[in-house]
Amino acid sequence: MALRTIESLGSLTGKTVLVRLDLNVPLKDGQITDDGRVRAALPTLNALLNAGAKVVAFSHLGRPDGAPDAKYSLAPVAQRLSELLGKPVCFASDTVGSGAQDAVASLEDGGIALLENLRFNAGETAKDDAERVRFAEKLAAFGDVLVSDGFGVVHRKQASVYELAELVPSAAGLLIQQELEVLERLTTRPEKPYTVVLGGSKVSDKLAVIDSLLPKVDTLLVGGGMLFTFLKALGHEVGASLLEEDQIDIVKGYLAKADELGVEIVLPTDIVVASKFGADAEVAITAADAIESTPFGKAGLGLDIGPATSARFAEVISASKTVFWNGPMGVFELAPFAAGTKAVAQALTTVDGLGVVGGGDSAAAVRALGFRDEQFGHISTGGGASLEFLEGKKLPGLEVLGWQQ
Ligand code: 3PG
Repeated sequence: MALRTIESLGSLTGKTVLVRLDLNVPLKDGQITDDGRVRAALPTLNALLNAGAKVVAFSHLGRPDGAPDAKYSLAPVAQRLSELLGKPVCFASDTVGSGAQDAVASLEDGGIALLENLRFNAGETAKDDAERVRFAEKLAAFGDVLVSDGFGVVHRKQASVYELAELVPSAAGLLIQQELEVLERLTTRPEKPYTVVLGGSKVSDKLAVIDSLLPKVDTLLVGGGMLFTFLKALGHEVGASLLEEDQIDIVKGYLAKADELGVEIVLPTDIVVASKFGADAEVAITAADAIESTPFGKAGLGLDIGPATSARFAEVISASKTVFWNGPMGVFELAPFAAGTKAVAQALTTVDGLGVVGGGDSAAAVRALGFRDEQFGHISTGGGASLEFLEGKKLPGLEVLGWQQ
């Protein structure tokens, strides 16, 4: 069965449409630092509002403990959404209580309300199926149909993602459709050469995706904190850099498997090593097999790939027809360690084919480094979700909408 789309819900004029979004944006001192997920929600919301629906939107933000917690309030998101839509967004002070009931009751055709954080309710993420169903029933009571468009959360079996979609007629929104079109191109018909760039702190988070992608790609570029476990697997010392000792044998297995498959795993040849973790650290650039030879000795901390590696990675990326990138190359939030991530992002903008930035930290990184969304083939809104898709896992929030991989 194919993914159900909005058309399958029939005319929505005058209907109350529940819309599950992923508005889980990064916040600093109450301000949104990257509004990419809010902007990504606009096509579906505008389509529904223009069709004369009453829109009841909801999302999670962060991981509160199943109870209200002001620092995870969606209030700043409601304000940004209103600015971007160019119309008032009625923000409910709770998710399924009297605040939400009043907000929904006040809606006119073409009007929109945003409910408070779903995860202020234990039922949203409850392990117990019946508890999730009870919470989903409360959401279901607010509307006629559900448009599910929170791509970033489709890998979670949570009440608003899964159970709710079974309780009312449901379909995928435009963002989910678009994300799937791109991700399918990465799994079923990638144009060659196909390069995957992996970074981020832990190799243990990437095992399944390496397993699944290794047979499909031509080249795997490895950066970020996870690179040090690869260097250690080759027998190099890594000072005080991030290391997952328990993953060394697994990584050795990948190196051997890549050889067998004829896949090139490109590891950094030089590293930016710091005296400590901080923007004011002393810094030295050294060969990847000589990290402990800097003045910082065993205390040296590798925090970015070096310039020669950046140049090599950029060359491979630019010559590829398909590129998927997940995970920063270094601690890009600190200026002395941002160059590697910047070089990868820059190279991705030059790909003559499909260049995909895979969600989460990588999406935040490219925007924080001053790149614009239009410079890339696609920036996914789902970090975990896009990785699990590429791992070939079943995603509950898609299956419940009719999708079969
Ligand atoms: C994300 O940021 O990856 C999504 O919003 C899902 O959030 P979660 O990992 O807290 O479920």
